[in-house]
Amino acid sequence: MKALILVGGFGTRLRPLTLSVPKPLVDFANKPMILHQIEALKAIGVTEVVLAINYQPEVMLSFLKDFESKLGIKITCSRETEPLGTAGPLALARDKLIDDSGEPFFVLNSDVISEYPLKEMIDFHKAHGGEASIMVTKVDEPSKYGVVVMEEATGKVEKFVEKPKIFVGNKINAGIYLLNPSVLDRIELRPTSIEKEVFPKIAAEGKLFAMALPGFWMDIGQPKDYITGLRLYLDSLRKKSSSQLARGSHIVGNVLVHETAVIGDGCLIGPDVAIGPGCVVESGVRLSRCTVMQGTHIKKHTCISSSIIGWHSTVGQWARIENMTILGEDVHVSDEIYSNGGIVLPHKEIKSSILKPEIVM
Ligand code: GDD
Ligand code: MG
Repeated sequence: MKALILVGGFGTRLRPLTLSVPKPLVDFANKPMILHQIEALKAIGVTEVVLAINYQPEVMLSFLKDFESKLGIKITCSRETEPLGTAGPLALARDKLIDDSGEPFFVLNSDVISEYPLKEMIDFHKAHGGEASIMVTKVDEPSKYGVVVMEEATGKVEKFVEKPKIFVGNKINAGIYLLNPSVLDRIELRPTSIEKEVFPKIAAEGKLFAMALPGFWMDIGQPKDYITGLRLYLDSLRKKSSSQLARGSHIVGNVLVHETAVIGDGCLIGPDVAIGPGCVVESGVRLSRCTVMQGTHIKKHTCISSSIIGWHSTVGQWARIENMTILGEDVHVSDEIYSNGGIVLPHKEIKSSILKPEIVM
């Protein structure tokens, strides 16, 4: 089986992290976002993943080459010279997606995180016999998403409305699809939206089916949702594989600590924290609801909450970092600094406090 991951876009909403790497390579729970997806695809028997990309393909491929052999899966790139939207890339990758088997293939948005119930999706797809399956989930604010109105008993989609201005329902497109090769015959090689131009047509013919996604779901393409997504992810990890979570009297709730990270005495860590490879957390540090990426050094008695600390940064002692502060790669924060929602670009030194949410260039 094959799969295509939609990797386009500049990831502007996740800056400054995406100034260092393309969005799918930003770490989430100590692993690049896209690896969560590739591993899930591999686990259900996908043998080839096509990355539909229009931005920094070299960075992406050179990074993923390592994982090709480690995971035993083929990873190729389909490069657009102009952004083709969410459907155009499928037409461009047509030859890579179709083979003699006539099997359906997966399509994933690159910024969604879930338990990826892909096996269940294959069973669902086979059972309804339609042309396309999509996964749906319920959210409180459906207007940011593609909304799906469906027949409850069968899952047959009656209506698909992308980013509706008026309320049509609260079940939304989770960005995980299983499509028959015939769907490609409906897509032209030009910038097109699968949500606006393809799904509504398949739905009108009664051949689009939606399955309620079991478990959690989050689009982690912006900082606030990224932090919420980590909470949901760790919660699910607790249920499925709790041995991966950190334990000890200094841990509160769900915490992921990479085996190569070093934690000092008298810290209190959690809930909902991920500490990446090679990080050093000195004594007396308090961390909650935050991500500390690879190679970061947090000095004594610092307190970090609801924030993301980018790769290879340093945070001085007695600092207080909170309220959606996002430090880019290689940022150095001096001792005793307070940051209230600062968005700090890569390679900066912060020597005075950031008192209100703002971008530090
Ligand atoms: N290759 C390529 N080319 N990929 C693209 C392009 C492009 O021109 N434009 C967007 N993408 C990729 C993005 O990187 C992302 O993985 C996916 O397509 C969806 O684009 P987003 O920009 O993240 O869309 P959204 O979050 O506003 O809405 C989509 O996702 C929602 C779920 O998170 C839609 O699919 C909604 O219907 C859905 O509910
Ligand atoms: Mg998105």
